[in-house]
Amino acid sequence: MDYKNLLVEIADGIALVKINRPQALNALNRETLLDLQQAMKEVEGRKDVRAVILTGEGEKAFVAGADIAEMKAMNPAEALAFSRLGHEALGMIENLTKPVIAAVNGYALGGGLEIALACDFIYASEKAKLGVPEVTLGIFPGFGGTQRLPRLIGKGRAKELIFTGKTVDANEARNLGIVNKVFPPDKLMEEVTKTARTIAQNGPVAVSMAKGAVNAGYDEGREEGEAIEMTAWGNSFATHDQKEGMGAFLEKRKPLFKGE
Ligand code: CAA
Repeated sequence: MDYKNLLVEIADGIALVKINRPQALNALNRETLLDLQQAMKEVEGRKDVRAVILTGEGEKAFVAGADIAEMKAMNPAEALAFSRLGHEALGMIENLTKPVIAAVNGYALGGGLEIALACDFIYASEKAKLGVPEVTLGIFPGFGGTQRLPRLIGKGRAKELIFTGKTVDANEARNLGIVNKVFPPDKLMEEVTKTARTIAQNGPVAVSMAKGAVNAGYDEGREEGEAIEMTAWGNSFATHDQKEGMGAFLEKRKPLFKGE
């Protein structure tokens, strides 16, 4: 499928989704958010896709935020609709039944950090800079940052970042728990791909069920999460992959998962 502001390459079970507006440091305008929604629908429907990597085109930025030029003249109703569009697009990433890894290759600011937070986890390049500088523009995070960031790193640390608008480097972001791992810039994609491959070799239904259970407990509370875990775990025994995975272990061979 063709996108205006995205590059999507699918190979070996992995979809590489690149936000492609390097002239604006990959800033998220409406068109790009609609592209992202479409791309999530495309990868959701592709049975051969077992893991997704989200990154930014070019040397400098993952995503430098929502598009300030497009937002400047918005009235409150238009701003609400834009925020809703952002929430919907990021929600589709968060709720995709396949794992999504953010490869933060440069600036991840404002909506750029917020989109990375909607992914399942983040790997970053040593030259990445992350933050939510919206208050320096007279607004505040509007693509889920006020909700996802405190859940990830705690209320006090999230408020400090949101209220000061300060950016942190990749190592500080790792110390805060925003980023899982940091790599030299020329190693980032290799390492992200390695992890995506490891995930893609595992039982896709199991990975998907695990993602759903973690998300449910995180957002809805422990009781809800435990109920979802138990139900999904029971259902996993109805899959070919469970029979194949356990059979392969007992027969001392590699499993051949089908994702069903
Ligand atoms: N929106 C629109 N255009 C952007 C942009 C953004 N968020 N970020 C960068 N650009 C554009 C610049 O306007 C510039 O365009 P021109 O060449 O046409 O002038 C081009 O990208 C290159 O940027 P800079 O010249 O500024 O590059 P730099 O190296 O000097 O600085 C930067 C890099 C520190 C990331 C700086 O571009 C910057 O501060 N960008 C804005 C970051 C920001 O405030 N993000 C939050 C946006 S609000 C938001 O995201 C709302 C929300 O909650 C969803």
